[in-house]
Amino acid sequence: MTSIFVPREPDGELRCAATPDTIKRLIKDGLAVTVEAGAGQGSHISDEQFKAVGASIETDRAAGMAKADIILQIAVPTIEQVGQIREGGSLISFLWSFEHLDVVKALNERKISAFAMDAIPRTTRAQKDDALSSQANLAGYKAVVAAAYHLNKILPMMMTPAGTIKPARFVIIGVGVAGLQAIATAKRLGAIVEATDPRPETKEQAESLGAKFLQVQGVEVKQGTGGYAAEQTDEYKKAQAAMLAEAFKNADAIITTALIPYKKAPVTITEDHVKSMRAGSVIVDLAAERGGNCALTEPGKVVEKHGVTILGETNWPRSVSVNASDMYAKNVMNIVQDSMLKVSKDSKEKAFKWTYEDDIVNGAMICHEGEVHHPKVRELMGLPPLAKPEPAPAAPAAAPAAAAPAAAATAAPAATETKPAEAQK
Ligand code: NAI
Repeated sequence: MTSIFVPREPDGELRCAATPDTIKRLIKDGLAVTVEAGAGQGSHISDEQFKAVGASIETDRAAGMAKADIILQIAVPTIEQVGQIREGGSLISFLWSFEHLDVVKALNERKISAFAMDAIPRTTRAQKDDALSSQANLAGYKAVVAAAYHLNKILPMMMTPAGTIKPARFVIIGVGVAGLQAIATAKRLGAIVEATDPRPETKEQAESLGAKFLQVQGVEVKQGTGGYAAEQTDEYKKAQAAMLAEAFKNADAIITTALIPYKKAPVTITEDHVKSMRAGSVIVDLAAERGGNCALTEPGKVVEKHGVTILGETNWPRSVSVNASDMYAKNVMNIVQDSMLKVSKDSKEKAFKWTYEDDIVNGAMICHEGEVHHPKVRELMGLPPLAKPEPAPAAPAAAPAAAAPAAAATAAPAATETKPAEAQK
């Protein structure tokens, strides 16, 4: 029987890679699940709740790691933790391999199959597995609520006998998954929203959620691959900075989410921009973990610079750990379930097996059976390309339009039910 171990995440990480619901379903599919004692604490899930659905509880992490066929977790493992995973076992977690080549090397030396949640192709079929999206969606929501909390203002327009309050103005930079949810959330709280992104297809998506799109004019826009943005030219950056300078002067809050695969986050807000902003305004830098989009962001900290509060939290999903665990646990459960394959053509019996015929496995598997599999990671490690059959490219084909309806769908019901003042508490 294939066994799964869910370790307790490192201190400060409140999410958990499994919930009673996902464990129940995995056990029903014939897997055995063990959870490290206290693993669900940060998401308010007790050991008893895990036990009630059939999980075993293990207090000795090293023993739990060594026995399991599959480790489900969120954080990138430490080298020490890699040493605890049994040789030939499987790990499903975030890896951010290009920043953790030493971890990849250690995983590969132990012939561990390392499935990176950050490398899943952004295809329609992979949407149910896509933890980048499930977590970014929550981050985009929470960023707006956090900005609202730090502002000494309300967001919606209010007409009262004592006078009319103008709506707050939000600028959203980067209209990917987080940016779209930020637009939807700020709109439903009553703010005026402007948004920008170098990818031209995002104009329609932002506008469909009610934002005004700010388009950089008169310069070449570099196209990325797989739906991702490319690093822009200096000319574009200059033109974007000039265009945004006008928007920033009138903004109450900026949510910035701009990322480029395999690169440090681009600077979209300079110190001069911050100086030009209104006293009391707020910047939420969702790119803080990758260096930050604002030149004055201090990752992990809330700072005040030139009268502007800059939030540099590097892990927003953990602040909504209940939902984030729920979503992440479902993402990893789907991956395991899809790898439960029939043992033979005519058999009803299923067993866990990675297969490269699956484009999701093919795209997200970093190393497997002692071979670094991912082409981009091989390149970064100085390894020659693998002989055929070639794995899928690193940055996979995207279906950009899918993200806008997703954010719009979550925005729609809330538009009637949200009480903006309550949301700021
Ligand atoms: P991301 O997290 O890599 O980047 C966030 C946003 O920042 C992107 O929209 C990007 O264009 C933008 N950006 C980059 N440089 C910028 C700059 N200098 N100024 C302003 N904005 C900048 O993106 P995310 O959210 O992971 O989405 C990546 C792609 O994947 C998108 O095309 C998205 O539509 C697609 N996608 C497809 C899905 C599917 O169909 N299964 C699911 C989720 C995303």
